[in-house]
Amino acid sequence: MDKPFIVALDFASKEEVRTFLQLFSDTSLFLKVGMELYFQEGPAMIDELKQKGHHIFLDLKLHDIPHTVKQAMKGLAKLGVDLVNVHASGGSAMMRAAIEGLEEGTPHGMSRPRCIAVTQLTSTSEQVLRDELLIDRPMKETVVHYASLAYRSGLDGVVCSAQEVPLLRASFGTSFITVTPGIRFAGDNADDQVRIVTPYEAKQLGTNYIVIGRSVTKAYDPYAAYERLKREWDGGQ
Ligand code: C5P
Repeated sequence: MDKPFIVALDFASKEEVRTFLQLFSDTSLFLKVGMELYFQEGPAMIDELKQKGHHIFLDLKLHDIPHTVKQAMKGLAKLGVDLVNVHASGGSAMMRAAIEGLEEGTPHGMSRPRCIAVTQLTSTSEQVLRDELLIDRPMKETVVHYASLAYRSGLDGVVCSAQEVPLLRASFGTSFITVTPGIRFAGDNADDQVRIVTPYEAKQLGTNYIVIGRSVTKAYDPYAAYERLKREWDGGQ
C-alpha cells in the first residue's frame, strides 16, 4: 500500500484488464477489483495481478451476519490482498468478526489485509436516508457515527468523500486511513459522481488514498492520465 493512487479496474473480463495493463508495462500499480470483475473472474484474477507485482484493494463491501463475514474474510485473507472492506451498517459485531476472520486467514509471515468500512454509499441521498432507510439524522452525522463504530470495532479506516476527511481526521487521528473516490481532473466529466474533487484538492483535504476510475481507464491515453495524476497530487500542473 505504498502508493496513494488506487486505479479502479471497472472491467468485466480479464481480457479487458490485460489490454489496459499492457499500457503500463512494468509499472506496479495499486488496483481496485470490485464486484463486477471479481464475480466474473474470481481469485485467479487476483493471483494474476499479484504475480505482476500490483497491490490490490478487493472492494466487495461485505455485509452479512458476523459468522458469515468472518468465514468469508478468512478466505479473502488467503488471497494476499492489501485492502478489503465491509459496510459499517452491518454493525460492530460484524466488523469485529471481519477482523478476526482476516487475522485467522492470513498466512504465517504475511501481514493481514487492512479492512475499511463504507459509511454511507455516495449514491444515498439525504432523501433516501430519511424516506427509505428511515434514518432521521443528517448524512454527515450518520457518516461520523458509522466511522466511529468502525474505529471502535478495530477497523483500519473508511471509504469516504474527500470533503468528509478533515472532520474524520479531527475525530479519529492520522492513523485511521481514508480512501476517497469521486476524483476528477479539472475540466473532466463528472459522470454519475455528485461531489467531485481534483487529485490536488483531495491531498489538501488530507486523504490517504484516492480511488480513480474513468478519468484514467477511459482516458484517450491512460498512461498519460496516470502520470498527470501523480504530478497533480504533488502540486504540479
Ligand atoms: O470512474 P470513477 O472514478 O467514478 O470510479 C470510482 C470507483 O470508486 C468506482 O469503482 C466506484 O464503484 C467506486 N466507489 C465510489 N463511491 C463510493 C465507493 C466506491 O465511486 N462511495
